[in-house]
Amino acid sequence: TDEYNHESNLKYIQIRNYRIETWYTAPFPEQFNSVPILYICENCLEYMDSKRVLKGHQAKCRVRAPPGLEIYREGLNSIFEVDGLRNSSYCRNLCLIAKLFLNSKTLFYDVDPFMFYVLTEYDPAKQKHHFVGYFSKEKVNNNNYNVSCILTLPIYQRKGYGNLLIDFSYLLSQREYKSGTPEKPLSDLGAVSYRNYWKVKMAYLLRRLATTKQPKSITTIQLCKLTGMIENDVIVGLEQCQALLRDFTNGQYLIFYNRPVIEVIIMKWESKNYTTLNPKSLFWKPVL
Ligand code: COA
Ligand code: NA
Repeated sequence: TDEYNHESNLKYIQIRNYRIETWYTAPFPEQFNSVPILYICENCLEYMDSKRVLKGHQAKCRVRAPPGLEIYREGLNSIFEVDGLRNSSYCRNLCLIAKLFLNSKTLFYDVDPFMFYVLTEYDPAKQKHHFVGYFSKEKVNNNNYNVSCILTLPIYQRKGYGNLLIDFSYLLSQREYKSGTPEKPLSDLGAVSYRNYWKVKMAYLLRRLATTKQPKSITTIQLCKLTGMIENDVIVGLEQCQALLRDFTNGQYLIFYNRPVIEVIIMKWESKNYTTLNPKSLFWKPVL
């Protein structure tokens, strides 16, 4: 149950030709509470209460891609870095749309302290970027959080894009020489996606390390450095790879390469054929 918008009749958002059922409510301005469908311009993310208004808007809207800098491009996928301070209207719209799929009580009015990383899929025929999903990240924080809110638009879910965004968030942490973790609490879908990510990440890493050095001689701290993950999340990943042994003499963990388990994890993941991140396609440096 939500604290606000008790009266909202909103059931769908329409983006391009997709009518997407909403999961929760969001604090749109009151005049939008009476309409069942919000029409959204996928370029600037403005929302409108009728198809007619959207048509009028689209005749003027010249935006072909998210605002901000395109910092990543690989194949048809791009990621744009959008500053909440400079593009507050776009980012507020983004947060409102995300709230429709998030059962959290957080309000999202203050976008200034956040960066937004927006994932798109390029459509060569229409020569434009389609909005796929995003995550937000606090510009400054003391908790190692590298993701605040993450969303894949439902029409793009279960295609590996959430995983791609998560992988990207850790790549940014690595470029900052930091270890990061998503802000808590995670939603149910956030939790299953992250658990899966940590598992698959550790499976690949252990397999790679097994060919170069003895995994037993590796510490969880070293795994943090190699992944941008915090130790707790590394351990959650290792547990699922059945790669941890507790040394009861000193309470330390021993890491070992459980090859059969890891081969199955990797085989299952690769059978999906999801798009993977190419770190070489990121052009970005942290602001110091
Ligand atoms: N049910 C079960 N497992 C799921 C799942 C679901 N609905 N969604 C993701 N997973 C797990 C699976 O292991 C999946 O791999 P598989 O498809 O091979 O089974 C893996 O995560 C990767 O999924 P992926 O396709 O990369 O995720 P996604 O693009 O669908 O995005 C979210 C995941 C969390 C971003 C998306 O569900 C979402 O936007 N949810 C609403 C907003 C939200 O809750 N955000 C998190 C806030 S903390
Ligand atoms: Na969140």
